[in-house]
Amino acid sequence: MSNSPTQIQLTQPDDWHLHIRDGDVMKDVLADTARQFARAIIMPNLKPPITTVDLAKAYQDRIQANLNALGVNSFTPLMTLYLTDNTSADEVRKAMAEGIVGFKFYPAGATTNSDAGVSDLKRCHAALEAMQAVGMPLLVHGEVTSSEIDIFDREAVFIDTVLEPLRKKFPDLKIVFEHITTKQAAHYVRDAMTGGKNTIAATITPQHLLMNRNAIFTGGIRPHNYCLPVLKREEHRIALLEAATSGNSSFFLGTDSAPHAKGAKETACGCAGCYSAFNALGLYAEAFESVGKLDQLEGFASFFGPDFYSLPRNSKKITLVKQAQNIPSELPLGYATIVPLRAGETIAWSLV
Ligand code: NCD
Ligand code: ZN
Repeated sequence: MSNSPTQIQLTQPDDWHLHIRDGDVMKDVLADTARQFARAIIMPNLKPPITTVDLAKAYQDRIQANLNALGVNSFTPLMTLYLTDNTSADEVRKAMAEGIVGFKFYPAGATTNSDAGVSDLKRCHAALEAMQAVGMPLLVHGEVTSSEIDIFDREAVFIDTVLEPLRKKFPDLKIVFEHITTKQAAHYVRDAMTGGKNTIAATITPQHLLMNRNAIFTGGIRPHNYCLPVLKREEHRIALLEAATSGNSSFFLGTDSAPHAKGAKETACGCAGCYSAFNALGLYAEAFESVGKLDQLEGFASFFGPDFYSLPRNSKKITLVKQAQNIPSELPLGYATIVPLRAGETIAWSLV
């Protein structure tokens, strides 16, 4: 394939990290994702969080009801559980038997709806032991929470103080380092292959491939570009783009699209989260094209995720065209509205 095509065909991608919330907003956000992706890993940080298989099944039923209402029969939600200090080894084994695809580890207080997260990983040893034994992946929000650590350093410090000790203690535990944002994380995952075995992978969002931290402050404060982990310096964006487009199967697509109503973002203490679901594939195509690597998009978006999760690759094909798409300034979100990433601007690529 030429590296400046105007149209590309891909195996249909999946989103390996997504927030769709619950209640009357779910239908609107689900429609955007289901238009592009065949499957998505559904994050469990609801209020209250999805901590048990029974809660996940009930949530899955509500998702299915919304898909039915949308007339969508070509989208599969992949369910996860929220790890707490009290998660038992039995719940892990039950989750594995019932098709749950991973446990999400939120350090308590690290991000939106993480108060019930893990206070100290030592409390989770029985659950982690069971995950390692049955091959259940641990999905990690990789930031320390201590207020003394600068917010721009929290991911790098997490690698040294939490992730590396965790991997030493549980060398066979499958880990996804979610929404990585730094050069340190990209290099850590790149260099993590041990003895021909790869137990750790990472997801990367479109905003971290396309923007650096200046985007939060361009001409004034830009709440819709604020997410966690927060955007970093340009050198980090470049390292992430290099990792995503390298063809290394340890890096794959996870939008971390995280809807918050307009009013919850444009306020004195605005929520963290970017809504990228509206045209996420267009954003990724732009990022890959910016370094002449559109030919690497299919592996990142459609192959490496299912391979890591030991799920079959999709067979359906989709087509992206280089045709600028206007992004509305607001979209419906239940009874409220949401401001999507790139609101009022254009995205260079669109799904046919
Ligand atoms: C996410 C959310 O809103 O649920 N926010 C975010 O900024 N990414 C939580 C998360 O994934 O950290
Ligand atoms: Zn997230």
